[in-house]
Amino acid sequence: MAPRTRTLVLAAGAALLARRALRRRIQGSPLWPLPALEEPVSGRGRGATAGRRVMVTERTSPAEGVVQLRLEGADLPAWEPGAHLDLVLPSGLVRQYSLCGDPAESGTYTVATRLIEDGRGGSREVHEQLREGTELEVRGPRNRFPLVDSVSYVFVAGGIGITPVLPMLRAAEAAGADWKLLYCGRSRATMPYLDEVEKLGADGGRTTVAAEDEGGLPDLGFLASAGAETAVYCCGPDGLMEAVAAALPEGRVPHLERFAPTGTAGGGAFALELRRSGRTVTVPADRTVLSVLREEVPHVSYSCEQGFCGTCQQRVVEGEVDHRDKLLTDSERADSMLVCVSRCRGERLVLDL
Ligand code: FES
Repeated sequence: MAPRTRTLVLAAGAALLARRALRRRIQGSPLWPLPALEEPVSGRGRGATAGRRVMVTERTSPAEGVVQLRLEGADLPAWEPGAHLDLVLPSGLVRQYSLCGDPAESGTYTVATRLIEDGRGGSREVHEQLREGTELEVRGPRNRFPLVDSVSYVFVAGGIGITPVLPMLRAAEAAGADWKLLYCGRSRATMPYLDEVEKLGADGGRTTVAAEDEGGLPDLGFLASAGAETAVYCCGPDGLMEAVAAALPEGRVPHLERFAPTGTAGGGAFALELRRSGRTVTVPADRTVLSVLREEVPHVSYSCEQGFCGTCQQRVVEGEVDHRDKLLTDSERADSMLVCVSRCRGERLVLDL
């Protein structure tokens, strides 16, 4: 064995032993198993899901700029491919991450996050604050991106968007379904789980890797022939999801999971009437309905503040809503809104509060 290879093997072995020792230490502690919480630590409203304590038992880096965390705790609810978990970070920020481990492994959740340099602070906190041995609260899991039964699937993943797709690939493969994956990214070094997805798709050339620094933007032309029997899934940047939707035959709608929040700024100020409370307040152009509402109704439910989780959904009595989420269905939009991101198209909005 070459000296450099021997050094790498020894380092990997030492890291593995250290992780096992940490897990033994954690699990041997009188605090283990960590108790479930009666109420969320952050106490953000009566509708928030009660949290559970978990501990980071392993921290690895599956690609450049990406951190993977293995979280362990007692009585963790089961989950299915496509589900995400709310992490309540030490600062109180709540962020959603797709579960990318094995649903059959009880007592453990695995999530991964890419560092967003100019983001809102969640990914930086994960990268800088969460270490092996850190305890935190999680809520969920919830699944807004479930894997439907199908004989045939096409998956398109962009970068860290592979995380919810990975358990789907394993499930599709285990079920003997026909599946294809187009995995896009800036470069191979930045694409997590590349080895695993290539191995999964090695039989029959199911996986296509499109690294921009090698071949430019991915060719989505193959989607034009996606038959009605094929379920199409996409997770990644908005541009990729829009391109996938546009490339499908007319009338076909892909299953989408977005990571980036939709915009909440823009539009003018408007009056917000809380019909049952008999109060009317102003929502300025630079504030969200939720932030104004919290001053009037301190127990109002919310969680992600990004239009992802649905916790802040409120019934609308009057007014035209400027829906800025990608979560609610048309029928839900007919009489409700997500107050963390959506606004009013007119001058007055009336909520059933
Ligand atoms: Fe999550 Fe509004 S708080 S959608």
